[in-house]
Amino acid sequence: MIKRIKGTNDIIEDSYVWEWVERKLIDVSKRFGFSEIRTPIFEATELFKRGVGTDTDIVQKEMYTFEDKGGRSLTLRPEGTASVMRAFVEHSLDSKGLPQKLFYMGPMFRYEKPQAGRLRQFHQYGAELIGSARPEADVMVMALAVETLKVLGLKNFKLKINSTGCEKCRPNYKEALKEYYKPLLPKLCNDCQVRYDRNILRLLDCKKDAQYAKDAPVILDYLCDECKAHFDKVRELLDALEIEYEVDPTIVRGLDYYTRTVFEITSTALGAQDAIAGGGRYDHLVEELGGKPTPSVGFAMGMERVMIALEKEGKIPQKEPPSVYVVAVDEKQRPHALKLALELSEEFVVDVDVMGRKMKAQFKNASKCGAHHVLVVGEEEVESNLYTFKNMKDGSQIKMPLSEIKKILRKEECDSNYQWH
Ligand code: HAM
Repeated sequence: MIKRIKGTNDIIEDSYVWEWVERKLIDVSKRFGFSEIRTPIFEATELFKRGVGTDTDIVQKEMYTFEDKGGRSLTLRPEGTASVMRAFVEHSLDSKGLPQKLFYMGPMFRYEKPQAGRLRQFHQYGAELIGSARPEADVMVMALAVETLKVLGLKNFKLKINSTGCEKCRPNYKEALKEYYKPLLPKLCNDCQVRYDRNILRLLDCKKDAQYAKDAPVILDYLCDECKAHFDKVRELLDALEIEYEVDPTIVRGLDYYTRTVFEITSTALGAQDAIAGGGRYDHLVEELGGKPTPSVGFAMGMERVMIALEKEGKIPQKEPPSVYVVAVDEKQRPHALKLALELSEEFVVDVDVMGRKMKAQFKNASKCGAHHVLVVGEEEVESNLYTFKNMKDGSQIKMPLSEIKKILRKEECDSNYQWH
């Protein structure tokens, strides 16, 4: 038997939950004025090297890179931001006016060690607000991230923010970090020993060496006046909007493009992989990709982690069962039953037997799939145009014309829609 690749998932039984989540995410994004962008799943490898950064774990260790038959080096996208910005530059989206507010959903690929909440093919929902340097943009993006979790019914999450400064103030901070970590170097894990030279900021968010990060210099003490003013304004606006947050100076993020504000949302419903979303400001990525200076900010959310949180918090919606199951009393009535099922399916969720089951077995199947009602099609019903309509919850049944049946189904659908839309 050929099996799925390690670190990938088949979404089968819970695909309806994914659809529900996706619908909610699209809805919130639109309410915040974002429109969807769909970019290719593979891109030129150079895009991620330049965008995400050659010294990051993603580019160093985690990319699915391959040569195609034309000898080009291609990479399955490990994240969405670089692709969105490539598209922004390629299609001169700035000419359509700024800011551009784009969201996306889809699979991402990273060669990481699979564990609960960490896959090699995972899915992200992300949003990018392109073209504003102002703190209002940072805060609206964070507000969107928080709102997406709220509309899904999640409660046990925390927004953590930090500033990683800019090209002016960050070098001083990096120097201070190097000083601090130098005597500790022999005690650090292998990864951090390499990161010391390549990407010193990442030492702060290493889980293995967390004990040393506690006493490390704090970036907020090293911010230049402009970065400090920006961060203060972000905090002021979050307070004004009553969005709860915590300042966490160890948040540095694993991608190189960030400048100033960075944030993560963690969930206590998750285990070791507790980041449900992460993002921040990236003011130089567009230039890095050959465009004009275009300050931007965005975030992405791990959809598998959202699923785990929904499950842990008991927020998985019930599967929508058929509203009505059409039962044919005998062989002669089958064409009529199919015709009715087709007509009803223009408006409602309908099921009808296609396995040649006898009437009793059809009823059994209707109750197994949780159908709210059964519509019985027998000779008498076809002649009189009055159908036996059975309520499967209380067992009551009544004969009525199709138009009346539709009215009842419409009312029920209307009452249950609050959960689905
Ligand atoms: P990231 O922090 O690398 O940021 O990923 C965002 C979210 O994707 C994480 O918080 C996590 O929920 C999920 N995630 C990441 N890796 C995995 C994995 N291997 N398995 C399951 N879930 C995972 C970015 O990707 C940036 N592009 C976010 C961004 C957008 N920044 C600005 N704009």
